[in-house]
Amino acid sequence: EKGGWSSFMAKEVSEEPDAVSNTLRGRLHDGAVVIPELEGLDDLFRDVSRVIVIACGTAAYAGQVGKYALEQWTRVPVDVELAHEFRYRDPVLGPDTLVVSISQSGETMDTLMAVKYARERGAKTLSICNTQGATIPRESDAVVYTHAGPEVAVASTKAFVAQITALYLFGLHVARLRGSLSPVEIADHVVELEAVPGKIAQILEREQPRIEQFAHWMADTRSVLFLGRHVGFPIAMEGALKLKELAYIHAEGFAAGELKHGPIALIEAGQPVFVIVPSPRGSGELHRKVISSIEEISARGARVIAIAEEGDAAVLPQADEVLRIPLAGPLFEPLLAVVPLHIFAMGLATAKGLDVDQPRNLAKSVTVE
Ligand code: M6R
Repeated sequence: EKGGWSSFMAKEVSEEPDAVSNTLRGRLHDGAVVIPELEGLDDLFRDVSRVIVIACGTAAYAGQVGKYALEQWTRVPVDVELAHEFRYRDPVLGPDTLVVSISQSGETMDTLMAVKYARERGAKTLSICNTQGATIPRESDAVVYTHAGPEVAVASTKAFVAQITALYLFGLHVARLRGSLSPVEIADHVVELEAVPGKIAQILEREQPRIEQFAHWMADTRSVLFLGRHVGFPIAMEGALKLKELAYIHAEGFAAGELKHGPIALIEAGQPVFVIVPSPRGSGELHRKVISSIEEISARGARVIAIAEEGDAAVLPQADEVLRIPLAGPLFEPLLAVVPLHIFAMGLATAKGLDVDQPRNLAKSVTVE
């Protein structure tokens, strides 16, 4: 039930804080991560030498965010691949490969077929899934459920933040098994994770009306670009996907570093570009590079909408709009930066009079290949 909300999507965006806290619930104990579903399965994860994440659409972007954390925390190489590409290229798989599938519905045919394929070839399989008892978790060796609650709107929102949360929990679990992080380091990341729901709630409270107003002004926009670097790159892709599927306008996400290798040719006067700005407190170098991308595009007339942490003044000279997110560690910023993009896509589609719950040509669960 929509319960007073104008759409399921509006309700589900408002539930993003709960999606994270419910996914954490029962899995954190005194600064340690304990995933009851994975009890007794240590052998499955301790000795893997490679992880391949497979998924489609938004779930694949969650996987791309997760890659940065998983590699950093576990020191195991992680590749992320679209499920429908993975299966048709004769991938190298063996008992030391862990294939992690991510799916909200647990029924996406492309992902299911890729999981079966990986299992038949001897790989180990873990499913990250939002739907209890769905086919993909049943076909996998292990499952970590996201507890985002039922997601009805075709566009995935709260499931996305829950998927990143589950991947992070899994990463910390494996880091403990392999000894790649100390208990103190794990506890620091747990503190960050626990703070995420409150920070998302703050964005909804402080920025949502402004973003919706702003989306309203942009209702006639024909094309929007999104730039990000590091963990901000998959968030840029997610922002673009949401705008395509909901508002039916041309939208593209780029790695900011790729600009001068081609996409900067698209920049002309008035072109709206969202830029996800990493915190200057993380890697100062990353921050400087993104600021210089902003300078390059604004010099060519782009209309820059920056998503930046509170207090970051470096964005002010060139940005036409700044959407603020609370301070967080570098790997936790994507869980915050995506929220304004979900609100924006929903706001723009609403301003155009479109049905945000049921966009044209799309199904919630893609059960054909
Ligand atoms: O149920 P799944 O997570 O497997 O679905 C994967 C994609 O079909 C899904 O994320 C799709 O891209 C969404 N409509 C994006 O908002």
